[in-house]
Amino acid sequence: MAFPVVRGRRLRSSAAMRNLVREMQLTVNDLVHPIFVTVGEGVREEIPSMPGVFHLSLDQLDAEIDEAVELGLQAVLLFGVPATKDAVGSSAYDEAGIVQQAIRRIKARAPELLVIADTCLCQFTDHGHCGLVHRDEATGRAVIDNDESLKVLARTAVSQAAAGADIIAPSNMMDGYVQAIRAALDEAGFENTPIMAYSVKFASAFYGPFREAAHSAPQFGDRKTYQMDPANGREALREAESDVLEGADFLMVKPALAYMDIIRMLKDRFDLPVVAYNVSGEYSMVKAAAANGWIDERAVVMEMLTGMKRAGADIILTYFSKDVARWLNSSR
Ligand code: PBG
Ligand code: ZN
Repeated sequence: MAFPVVRGRRLRSSAAMRNLVREMQLTVNDLVHPIFVTVGEGVREEIPSMPGVFHLSLDQLDAEIDEAVELGLQAVLLFGVPATKDAVGSSAYDEAGIVQQAIRRIKARAPELLVIADTCLCQFTDHGHCGLVHRDEATGRAVIDNDESLKVLARTAVSQAAAGADIIAPSNMMDGYVQAIRAALDEAGFENTPIMAYSVKFASAFYGPFREAAHSAPQFGDRKTYQMDPANGREALREAESDVLEGADFLMVKPALAYMDIIRMLKDRFDLPVVAYNVSGEYSMVKAAAANGWIDERAVVMEMLTGMKRAGADIILTYFSKDVARWLNSSR
């Protein structure tokens, strides 16, 4: 009888052996914690479709920040839910806007914690699109005004940097957004503020719970004229390449789970840090299944995030960040 020539099981024989040969490890340093800030006082409102994730008013932010620091997290990502919306998203670049206030408050409380500001207009426009909308004269249809949007986005980014944001993270998918924001930041003296570009952002159904959380669903039409077709991988490379040429410092892929191949392609092709956004729908699915007792939440989350890192993600944005930090801290 012929014995197996190769015995892969030799290296799986004990926990110590498996620890010795493990190829990579998720760490707390890899995680970014998203936070939704809202106006008002004493607001700590759980988002129904995202159990464990809250809308926080500024006064409630302090405890959240202290907890993040305590857990060893290095960065938070800020989304604002403003008091008022209008056609041009003017509350996005208001010096006293919700995001700008939150940035100042966090930097005063925890100067070492990195504050990443999401730069988009959809939470701030009454129509809910990520850019400005105008009526096309020939067809009478409402269309996204790409280049006018760039001006507002650049202004928003500068106001966030001026408030103290450490990283600008534009998620709007307008053409030329990295270039426009880079130029405006440089002009305003923020040449050392990095841009985390949402380079490859797909038009995804996995954003559903976020839109409920951020009150940012488009009021008409959809985002398919700016967010990418989920079928396209080669186009993802072009999107990433243009962002690299325009001066991006990080490249993001969003969502993560259904796009692991894109994460790997960016990792192999470009030398910038690759960021994976484990989005709201990916979070809610796990939470719902776990609440039903159908899966082991901790094991599933660790497996998903490990998979993202193995695919090539250097950084993972995830609503599980605090839980994962706790698990990692306790497993030592
Ligand atoms: C829009 C934006 C989206 C998310 C964050 N900012 C997507 C969208 O609504 O199109 C999704 C985040 C998530 O689902 O967790 N700029
Ligand atoms: Zn948007």
